[in-house]
Amino acid sequence: MNVLIADKFEQAGIDQLCSLGCTVNTDADLTGDSLRMAVGSNGCEVLIVRSTKVSDDVLAAGSSLKLIIRAGAGFDTIDTAAAKQRGIKVANCPGMNSVAVAELTFGLMLGLDRRIPDNVSDLRGGVWNKKEYGKARGLKGRTLGIVGLGRIGYEVAVRGKAFDMDLIYSDVIAHESKEQELGIRRVSYKEVLRESDFICLHVPLNDETRHMISTPQFETMKSTAFIINCSRGGVIDEKALATAIETGQIAGAGLDVYEHEPKATDRTCSLDVAQVNRVYGTHHIGASTEQAQLAVAQEVVRIVGEFKITGEVLNWVNP
Ligand code: MLT
Repeated sequence: MNVLIADKFEQAGIDQLCSLGCTVNTDADLTGDSLRMAVGSNGCEVLIVRSTKVSDDVLAAGSSLKLIIRAGAGFDTIDTAAAKQRGIKVANCPGMNSVAVAELTFGLMLGLDRRIPDNVSDLRGGVWNKKEYGKARGLKGRTLGIVGLGRIGYEVAVRGKAFDMDLIYSDVIAHESKEQELGIRRVSYKEVLRESDFICLHVPLNDETRHMISTPQFETMKSTAFIINCSRGGVIDEKALATAIETGQIAGAGLDVYEHEPKATDRTCSLDVAQVNRVYGTHHIGASTEQAQLAVAQEVVRIVGEFKITGEVLNWVNP
């Protein structure tokens, strides 16, 4: 079975794919023409991607392509509908990086509350400002509102409980066992926006969620609220976010994802929202811990192994 890995991928996973008898080609720099050529050559049957976008022209080039695996949870970077039309199956690796994303979410929450990045920056500039930075409100007893209590939202709630926070969530479905386990309450989306001191978004990007946070939503939030987005850029309207922070409608934001994100291979970026005071931005690294990437690689190997032996596609997302 010919496998092409068009992104960075754990060596242990590559070794295991070879042990399964796969012929593995890896090239993390493939994009555009080079990706189309690679997918079209060597009888590529399985394509594994992380950040690399797979659009219909890439699919069209893959005459032998049967399966695309997204080495992560989200699959909005792959044209799944076009893949379906061409009879190409798409699978993902849900849950493998949830803890990593939840950890970064908490990193951003603590960073916002204590203004850690500004502290560091001032110290580096020789400024001592205990008075200014001694104004944090703290996390204990604050309301943590989680939009989307799926795998990642759940891990955020677990950590919120450990921090003694008051937990609420909104979701299209009720999660009764999680409610019982964590004492988290299901409320309306509007209530999450209105009541929360920290609002964390853990939803996929689709037509329903695009710009689900924009000016009308910011207008209902507390002026002391922080919003954290480690899901997908596009869920928050970045221009409206900048205005909301600059006009004091909310206190700040922690972002790991952006509406127009640079490619993994880019070395420069110009993200206007990252220039806003009290926006603490990271480089879409939520899933990027060693443990999470190993777990993802293992799941990819499991999917390829099952597909090779039985033809079944685990975690099939475009049936
Ligand atoms: C995900 O969808 O799980 C993350 O975006 C994965 C990643 O950053 O690789």
